[in-house]
Amino acid sequence: MSSIVTLISGRGSNFEAIVKTAQKERWPVKFAGVIANHSASKGLDFARSQGIPAFAIEHKEHATRESFDAALIRKIDELGADLVVLAGFMRILTPSFIRHFEGRLLNIHPALLPAFPGLHTHERALEAGVKEHGATVHFVNEGVDEGPIICQASVPVLAGDTTDSLASRVLTAEHQIYPRAVKWFLDGRLRIEGNQVKIQPPEPQFFKL
Ligand code: GRF
Repeated sequence: MSSIVTLISGRGSNFEAIVKTAQKERWPVKFAGVIANHSASKGLDFARSQGIPAFAIEHKEHATRESFDAALIRKIDELGADLVVLAGFMRILTPSFIRHFEGRLLNIHPALLPAFPGLHTHERALEAGVKEHGATVHFVNEGVDEGPIICQASVPVLAGDTTDSLASRVLTAEHQIYPRAVKWFLDGRLRIEGNQVKIQPPEPQFFKL
């Protein structure tokens, strides 16, 4: 049975969506642990309520990014992870962390990459006047929000949208595609070819919601 370790920073709603889908669909998977970079992360409470081991490794207690990431690597390896899921984890990871988990490290980004990498994606989408926005699940490589794309979902940008209304529409899309992408990974259906991700047997990797 495969093991997943999830890293979060806050609310953890993506993590929750993955766990609930796994329960509903009876995935043969073990949620080996959740690690937050802050003990006040709400997602840790959800993990505990499900009997999933929950840990905080406070980034502020580490003098350098390297030392924080080394502590993360130790904990994740101790828990045993076939897959590491970044779910709203708001720290930039060092190249050595990324290399350690490359090929089994997924992230969700709240935009249709390569549009709007980085922070404040919903504000920037509204400012740019785009009519379509969305979310992307991708393998993590050493570029920021640049790894091979597994799947994307788009949502319309509506007249009168605020950052909050758009963020909440995108979040609903995130909750649909992240569990799908995790399941594809667990089922061994994903192949990275250059910067592309192929799914075998093929099925749509783009969803218009
Ligand atoms: C999500 O929008 C994620 O894409 C972004 O941060 C948010 C985290 O939400 N990077 P949650 O913690 O999963 O509820």
